[in-house]
Amino acid sequence: MKVLVATDKPFAKEAVEGIREAVEKAGFELALLEKYTEKSQLLDAVKDANAIIIRSDIIDAEVLDAAKNLKIVVRAGAGYDNVDLDSATAHNVCVMNTPGQNANAVAELAFGMMVAGVRNFYDGSSGTELLGKKLGIHAYGNVGRNVARIAKGFGMEVYAYDAFCPTDVIEKDGVKALNSAEELYKNCQFVSLHIPATAETKQSINHALLSKMPKGAMLINTARKEVINETDLEKTMEERLDFKYVTDVMPGNHEKLKESYAKRYFSTPQKMGAQTAEANINAGIAAAHQIVDFLKNGNEKFRVNK
Ligand code: 3PG
Repeated sequence: MKVLVATDKPFAKEAVEGIREAVEKAGFELALLEKYTEKSQLLDAVKDANAIIIRSDIIDAEVLDAAKNLKIVVRAGAGYDNVDLDSATAHNVCVMNTPGQNANAVAELAFGMMVAGVRNFYDGSSGTELLGKKLGIHAYGNVGRNVARIAKGFGMEVYAYDAFCPTDVIEKDGVKALNSAEELYKNCQFVSLHIPATAETKQSINHALLSKMPKGAMLINTARKEVINETDLEKTMEERLDFKYVTDVMPGNHEKLKESYAKRYFSTPQKMGAQTAEANINAGIAAAHQIVDFLKNGNEKFRVNK
C-alpha cells in the first residue's frame, strides 16, 4: 500500500518523520510531494497512491479520476472544503479530517493578530488593551473553545454563538451563549470567526452584521475567506474609521484593502494558523494513524463523506 503526502505548504520535518514511522511500521510505503507548483505534478503523484494525506490541497474530480487505486484521503486539519466530497463518494473514496489536532495553533494566532491590531501594528502610536473587552466567538468548535480558554487568560468577557452547539456545552466553559449572530456582532467589540465554508456560510458575514459591531470593532478571521462578503467588508471599512480587519486568509480584495486601509487591515501572506511544528505533528501523525486503521481494520470514525 502506498501513502502519499501531498502538501503544497509542507509539514515541519518532525511531522513528516512521524508520519513515515507510522506508515512504515504498518508495512506501507510513503511517498512525498511537497511544495508542488503545478496541478500536473499532483495528478502524476496520485496515480498509484492508495491513500493521500493533504492540507488545503485541492482534491477535485480530476484528481480523483487520476487516482485509480485511491481508497482514502485524509485532510490533516479541520476544514475539508477543499475536497469534492460528492466526487469522492462517487469514486468510492473515504474522506476524513483530523478534528482538533491543529486547533490550539489557530487559536493562538487569532490572539497574535488581535494584539497586533489593538497595538496599531506596532507603529509606535498608543494602542489599547484586551483586558475587560468583549470577545464574540462565532462558532464554538475546537478552535472556538481554544480561543475561549486563551481569552479568559487575557481577562476578556467571552461570548459565543453557534447554531449547532448546545447552550449548556458553551456555558459550562464560563462563556455566555448568545442566540443569534446578530446578537454576537451587536454586543462584542471583537469577533473571532470559526465557521466552516459551506453553502450556508459563504458570504454570510455581511454589512448587516459588521455595521452592528460596537465602537473600536475588530473582526479576526482565521477561518475561511469565502465566509466574508468582501464588498460589504470594504463598505464597512470605508464607512467606519474605527473598524479593523485582521485575517489569516487573504481576501480577494487584499491589494485594495492594503492600499486604502493600511492602518486598519492586516493579512498574513499565506495561511499560517496551523503552521506550527506541534500542529503539523498532531494533525499529520493523526492522519497517518487514521489511514492505517482504515486500511487495516476498516475504521471510518472520522469519515466526513457519505
Ligand atoms: C484547517 O482547516 O485545518 C486550517 O485552516 C489549516 O489549514 P492548513 O493545513 O492548510 O494550514
